Amino acid sequence: MSTTLPIDQMIDTQRGTISREIFVSPEFHAAELEKLFTRAWLFVGHESQIPKPGDFFVSRMGQESVILCRDSRGAVHVFLNSCRHRGMKICRYEQGNTSLFVCPYHSWSYTTDGKLQGVPLYRSLYEGVLNREDWSLIEVPRLACYKGTVWASWDAEAPDFLTYLGGAVDHLDQVLDCRDGRPGGSEVIGVHKWILPTNWKFAAENFLGDTYHNPSHRSVDMIGIGPSGEKGQRRDNEYNKGQHVWVGFPQGHGMHSVWMPEQQEYQPGYAQYPEVDEYFRHCFEERKRRQGDKARLMPFTGNLFPNTSYHGRQPRGLCVWHPHSPTETEAWRFFLVDADAPAAVKDVLRRFYMRYSGPAGMTEQDDMENWLYATQSSMGTIARRYPFNYQASMGAYKTNDPIPGDVSLQITDQTPRNYYRVYSRYLKGDGWDSLLGRDLQPIQRAAE
Ligand code: FES
Ligand SMILES: [Fe+2]
Repeated sequence: MSTTLPIDQMIDTQRGTISREIFVSPEFHAAELEKLFTRAWLFVGHESQIPKPGDFFVSRMGQESVILCRDSRGAVHVFLNSCRHRGMKICRYEQGNTSLFVCPYHSWSYTTDGKLQGVPLYRSLYEGVLNREDWSLIEVPRLACYKGTVWASWDAEAPDFLTYLGGAVDHLDQVLDCRDGRPGGSEVIGVHKWILPTNWKFAAENFLGDTYHNPSHRSVDMIGIGPSGEKGQRRDNEYNKGQHVWVGFPQGHGMHSVWMPEQQEYQPGYAQYPEVDEYFRHCFEERKRRQGDKARLMPFTGNLFPNTSYHGRQPRGLCVWHPHSPTETEAWRFFLVDADAPAAVKDVLRRFYMRYSGPAGMTEQDDMENWLYATQSSMGTIARRYPFNYQASMGAYKTNDPIPGDVSLQITDQTPRNYYRVYSRYLKGDGWDSLLGRDLQPIQRAAE
């Protein structure tokens, strides 16, 4: 599909304006599915969800259902959840364990490594014609497991996952590593799934570092839903001595993190739970000892291009925004804890996560209200004539100072401008050098 969409007129990152069409039009939605979700690396799940041979978790890539599965020899696969015979959804469970995926329609069956095994009446109907080898489940050509997380791309030519991540890996590490600084070691303690009437990019963009919308969380700040229940904030304030940074990378990733002072002290939290506070105090000291200067980086929120967002500390988890239609999104939140944390710690975190995030989470409800009304009120004929404004902090950033990336020390639309620059390149069908921003000098990235 070659696009006839007037992308450059609609996405003007130099002027800082973006047409509402990209949030509401079926044409843009179709172009995204065709040109973006078939190429970018997408998050599909976590290895802790499929610990044993035969375990599976049914996930999504763009609009399509996929099966994340551990085969009988322990290898991880991602298959399109569609039978090779007539397309029936092979697996209609959300997760489980099996030795065979048996299609409910005509009963073709597939092993956990995707091979076609059983074909009813094979001898009389197909002998000598159908070669089972040719009809395995469709498997993603590119798969990467990183610190427990599993990612996939439908583009055989895609760069390896770490190249795709670029400098964003330092921030993702701080989400996935144990709170005491050991690499990896997280587990998913639950997934929330729900559908909301908004365009998926409103949510992704919010996590890129839209700190500007903080006033819309005033009510949760006032009642204090954080682990310590302190009024005036919705989490415990472990960042209060740090320099807030808004960071963008040429691959389209962006985040709001905090660069802590060289001499940082533990900020007591979890006031009602001394055992939990003690755990995190210990973790804080261990993390400093293990990671040294790297421990100065505290992740807040971020979005890995295109649709995987994270909360780095409180609450801690990954969220994926699956597009259903231009104005409907399926949100999946994967909540993370250290796999070897004491049960009491996991329990306090679990309750805080649900209080904060997910369909009934009080902070997330504020966000969803903004996204769904913004979507609705951008659908009208008149509304669609007027672009959105992305002009905050034009040009106000430095490169690799004080940390790698294009870094702003104030709230900025630089990260979304960068994100939509990359987005427009995908929609134009650019090659990987362009999608990774290899042709640009740092300062050009903002001005293109
Ligand atoms: S559609 Fe699966 S066996 Fe026919
Ligand atoms: Fe928010």
